[in-house]
Amino acid sequence: MFSFRTIGYTAVTAILLALLQPCNAQLHTTFYANTCPNVSTIVRSIVQQALQSGPRISASLIRLHFHDCFVQGCDASILLDNSSTILSEKLAAPNVNSTRGFNVVDSIKTAVESACPGDVSCADILALAAQSSVSLSGGPSWNVPLGRRDSLTANQTGANTSIPSPFEGLSNITSKFAAVGLNTNDLVALLGAHTFGRAQCRTFRNRLYNFSGRGKPDSTLNTTYLTALQQICPQNGSGAALANLDTTTPDSFDNSYFTNLQKGQGLLQSDQELFSTSTGAATIALVNNFGSNQTAFFQCFVQSMINMGNISPLTGGNGEIRSDCKKVNGS
Ligand code: HEM
Ligand SMILES: *[C@@H]1O[C@H](CO)[C@@H](O)[C@H](O)[C@H]1NC(C)=O
Ligand SMILES: *[C@@H]1O[C@H](CO)[C@@H](O)[C@H](O)[C@H]1NC(C)=O
Ligand SMILES: *[C@@H]1O[C@H](CO)[C@@H](O)[C@H](O)[C@H]1NC(C)=O
Ligand SMILES: *[C@@H]1O[C@H](CO)[C@@H](O)[C@H](O)[C@H]1NC(C)=O
Ligand SMILES: *[C@@H]1O[C@H](CO)[C@@H](O)[C@H](O)[C@H]1NC(C)=O
Ligand SMILES: *[C@@H]1O[C@H](CO)[C@@H](O)[C@H](O)[C@H]1NC(C)=O
Ligand SMILES: *[C@@H]1O[C@H](CO)[C@@H](O)[C@H](O)[C@H]1NC(C)=O
Ligand SMILES: *[C@@H]1O[C@H](CO)[C@@H](O)[C@H](O)[C@H]1NC(C)=O
Ligand SMILES: *[C@@H]1O[C@H](CO)[C@@H](O)[C@H](O)[C@H]1NC(C)=O
Ligand SMILES: *[C@@H]1O[C@H](CO)[C@@H](O)[C@H](O)[C@H]1NC(C)=O
Repeated sequence: MFSFRTIGYTAVTAILLALLQPCNAQLHTTFYANTCPNVSTIVRSIVQQALQSGPRISASLIRLHFHDCFVQGCDASILLDNSSTILSEKLAAPNVNSTRGFNVVDSIKTAVESACPGDVSCADILALAAQSSVSLSGGPSWNVPLGRRDSLTANQTGANTSIPSPFEGLSNITSKFAAVGLNTNDLVALLGAHTFGRAQCRTFRNRLYNFSGRGKPDSTLNTTYLTALQQICPQNGSGAALANLDTTTPDSFDNSYFTNLQKGQGLLQSDQELFSTSTGAATIALVNNFGSNQTAFFQCFVQSMINMGNISPLTGGNGEIRSDCKKVNGS
């Protein structure tokens, strides 16, 4: 009798916990099957349209999803404009004068709202736009888990402190990934996204002239590549000049990011550290694997994008479906 009652209470407690536990909420690739079956096609068609004006926008869009997910989860908090009630993440150090593509997100939202009004979250639009960006640039396709809802808040402090900087060491960066549940495999695979897009001179100039105050360039830089970067990024020039993150195939989503690292041609300090004997034996093996086997890179990249897309989504009755990605509803 006593043990029967104990089992009964345990079962009831388990069921209650399952019902009350928002962390167990799952995303599903078929989430919009009834409400907006064509949503991936619509997103893809707007990204494709935007690519007509130049190849960079796909890189800018996947970066928005990354910078969204690392701050209070994948909840479109990065899209909220500054206002009397919102201290915008757009003004945080990793984003200001750097993140771009917000106008394309707005065009996607307009097209999706016109097909399926009030159904699709801005957070899911960022995840879908990231997928289309990768596949339209030559990378893999995958079915994106969906069902995220949009935040009512932003966290500028979170954006300043949770998104990795190119100047911090691999161990700090690894900690920031671990803080959102991503491991070293995820880190190396996801950094493969630096296979396209651009970076401003101010993000790598520290390596070119007087690295760590030692009066010399970063010794891990390939000397031919160093000379090319010094042309793009003079010591006293504008910090806004742009260099390709992937010097070999700047606009294609492929595995050349990793073969570049093997040749000392990583652009950011944080990129080249993945191949540094002093900081990352485990990461070197992954770089070599991805550099020699693009199929392996694509497989791991897809899994890690799904892992990143699963960071603390708002689901069920939490958050809202914003009607304008830039503002909380009713504000
Ligand atoms: C260790 C972590 C990372 C660091 C330190 C880092 C740092 C940076 C920096 C400094 C830039 C140049 C920004 C500018 O100059 O305006 C950049 C660009 C970019 N990042 Fe990362 N990043 C990291 C991880 C990621 C991840 C995980 C992704 C995507 C999955 C990503 C995708 C991109 C893309 C595509 C660009 C080019 C954007 C454009 O051209 O507009 N990065 N990153
Ligand atoms: C889905 O969207 C695409 C792009 O907007 C459009 O070409 C196509 O006709 C749509 N299909 C359906 C079934 O609505
Ligand atoms: C952003 O909004 C806050 C109030 O939420 C305000 O104090 C701040 O000045 C605004 N920043 C800019 C750059 O407009
Ligand atoms: C975040 O960093 C930016 C740029 O350095 C700074 O202007 C802003 O005040 C910081 N925000 C918070 C809340 O610390
Ligand atoms: C952003 O760019 C504008 C225009 O180029 C410049 O005036 C401003 O100082 C920059 N802000 C930061 C934080 O770099
Ligand atoms: C914002 O992010 C910071 C750093 O992750 C965290 O300590 C803080 O609690 C967050 N603020 C809110 C209101 O969630
Ligand atoms: C690395 O993290 C430690 C501990 O949070 C911090 O004190 C240090 O400044 C960070 N290093 C860099 C280069 O950001
Ligand atoms: C390099 O930077 C260090 C520390 O900031 C400084 O003391 C040194 O004079 C610089 N060297 C050169 C060659 O500019
Ligand atoms: C850069 O500026 C500093 C001081 O403003 C000057 O001493 C130096 O010669 C300049 N370097 C170049 C390459 O023009
Ligand atoms: C430097 O880059 C060139 C290609 O530009 C390559 O042939 C060479 O092997 C690289 N050097 C090193 C040390 O990796
Ligand atoms: C490349 O990676 C794939 C996927 O992990 C694997 O199936 C394949 O055997 C690898 N190819 C080689 C040549 O190692």
